[in-house]
Amino acid sequence: MDIIEAIRGRASTRKFLDKAVSKETISLILEAARFAPSGVNTQPWKVSVVCDDVKQKISAAYLQAYQKGEPKRMDYQYYPEEWFTPLKERRFACGMALYGALGISRDDTEARSTVWEANYRFFDAPVGLFFWIDKRLKMGSWLDNGMFIQNVMLAARGFGLETCPQAAMAEYPDLARDILGVSEEYLCICGMALGFANYDDPINSYRTEREDISNFTDFHGLD
Ligand SMILES: Cc1cc2nc3c(=O)[nH]c(=O)nc-3n(C[C@H](O)[C@H](O)[C@H](O)COP(=O)(O)O)c2cc1C
Repeated sequence: MDIIEAIRGRASTRKFLDKAVSKETISLILEAARFAPSGVNTQPWKVSVVCDDVKQKISAAYLQAYQKGEPKRMDYQYYPEEWFTPLKERRFACGMALYGALGISRDDTEARSTVWEANYRFFDAPVGLFFWIDKRLKMGSWLDNGMFIQNVMLAARGFGLETCPQAAMAEYPDLARDILGVSEEYLCICGMALGFANYDDPINSYRTEREDISNFTDFHGLD
């Protein structure tokens, strides 16, 4: 696949076909992703791949925590305390696009909650991934991980697969650590659903918008 097409065609995918992905394919994706750059080549990533009964066990634990109303307890703060323009508006548009595609109104909190819950089942993808980082590492290593994670999503496309990165799977990190035997020395960055996209489902029917480059770029020394 052409690199530009791989980047531009990627979209968060939230419904998958009931079709397995082999361990070999997952390994090939990670083998490609590991060529991500990292500061002084530290390669500060760590991945857990979960399928079948282990994936189900994690999903059940997350769903139970969510349904019991347990407070979310991410290892880090993803978003600002207070949203501000223009991020506030973009966030709003993001939710509107998702729920709009499913015909769910803004005030239908029950339906929205059901959609959100699908996160904890990895959107029924055959493969779930967890990305971890050693808690001694600093912001630069989080940057490295971002590049690695993007590589995973792009490499997946090379095998006809799609993904959804998921902060939701980092909301109860102790549950995943416990089931997977991951030490508390590792913080959970995010999860990811991986599988063959179901393009017939409305949830995969829309595309999020992007700003024009003129809104975030200054050119200097160029005509
Ligand atoms: C680190 C990260 C975490 C995300 N977490 C979630 C999530 O928990 N659930 C979800 O449905 N989408 C999640 N997303 C997907 C974003 O909503 C999505 O990337 C954004 O709306 C842009 O859409 P696109 O990925 O289709 O281009 C996440 C994206 C990133 C990069």
